Amino acid sequence: MNAKTETAIVTVPEIAVVDEIKDEIDEVKTFYFRFVDEAAGRNFRIRSGQFIMCTVFGAGEFAVSLPFSPENDRLHLSVRSVGKVTRALHDLKPGDKIGIRGPFGNGFPFEEIKGKNIIYVAGGIGLIPLRSSIVHVLQHRDEFGRILLLYGARTSKDLMYTYMIDKWLKTDGFETHIAIDNPEPGWTKHVGFVNTLVERAGIPVKDTVAFVCGPPVMFNAVIRDLLKRGLKDAHIISTLERHMKCGIGKCQHCAIGRTLVCTDGPVYTYKQIKTLGEQI
Ligand SMILES: Cc1cc2nc3c(=O)[nH]c(=O)nc-3n(C[C@H](O)[C@H](O)[C@H](O)COP(=O)(O)OP(=O)(O)OC[C@H]3O[C@@H](n4cnc5c(N)ncnc54)[C@H](O)[C@@H]3O)c2cc1C
Ligand code: FES
Repeated sequence: MNAKTETAIVTVPEIAVVDEIKDEIDEVKTFYFRFVDEAAGRNFRIRSGQFIMCTVFGAGEFAVSLPFSPENDRLHLSVRSVGKVTRALHDLKPGDKIGIRGPFGNGFPFEEIKGKNIIYVAGGIGLIPLRSSIVHVLQHRDEFGRILLLYGARTSKDLMYTYMIDKWLKTDGFETHIAIDNPEPGWTKHVGFVNTLVERAGIPVKDTVAFVCGPPVMFNAVIRDLLKRGLKDAHIISTLERHMKCGIGKCQHCAIGRTLVCTDGPVYTYKQIKTLGEQI
């Protein structure tokens, strides 16, 4: 997957202020931020699918996706608290400072998929890295064919960005299908694993690209069902996660075989992922 074009990369953390913190779901918060140096903010050009390194001072640095649209969203990150650094981020309050390096990585190949149908398949917080792509594609609606979102989570409380989903459900030309694993009182939408939506939604196959993101068990089931429906493995796109250190291809920390996820990825086709020969 190669969507590389030249953008200005910040290699030393640029200081940003956290303006607002929003609770999303259990353990996941969204942090809205702005650069202290306004010029740095103006120069911060990202492509959907890239990632940045976020420094929490005194705790460390971690890789994180950019869920906002490069065009006109507020800068923000959505982060699950899983370990030392992300817990420290969750302890911050509005007005606290973080450091931002990046953007890094290849990004989604929008130029290559113009005119095609797009299916987004996300599980749980797998919607975070896909969000910016969905917003971008909806902003350029006439450049694509059918657009579908198949999104599933364990329970209704595990669905990310419900305020966006409510909007998407009402958006013409965007077919949004939502599922949870088990029945719940008051739930009127689909019940079942997200891969069962692949069959149910009647997805297009010809001239179609699928973006898939979620936990490994969901990823494997979705890939199996997409391939069964006739999608080609070169037309299935995902992002890989590896612990990152430098983010710029120097430390080898993110290596899988000969690929460096920080510079060659994090966006790969399933055809490429298969050749990496590693469980993801
Ligand atoms: C491109 C990219 C985009 C990402 N986007 C997001 C995002 O949008 N939101 C989000 O919440 N997270 C995202 N992540 C994941 C995030 O970077 C990690 O959750 C974060 O690094 C955790 O840091 P921590 O110090 O809090 O946890 P850690 O202390 O690093 O531990 C987190 C978990 O990872 C395990 N772990 C620690 N080191 C390693 C290692 N070397 N290899 C394998 N497992 C290890 C630990 O055992 C623990 O279970 C992304 C990662 C990548 C690479
Ligand atoms: S994180 Fe250092 S080479 Fe990828």
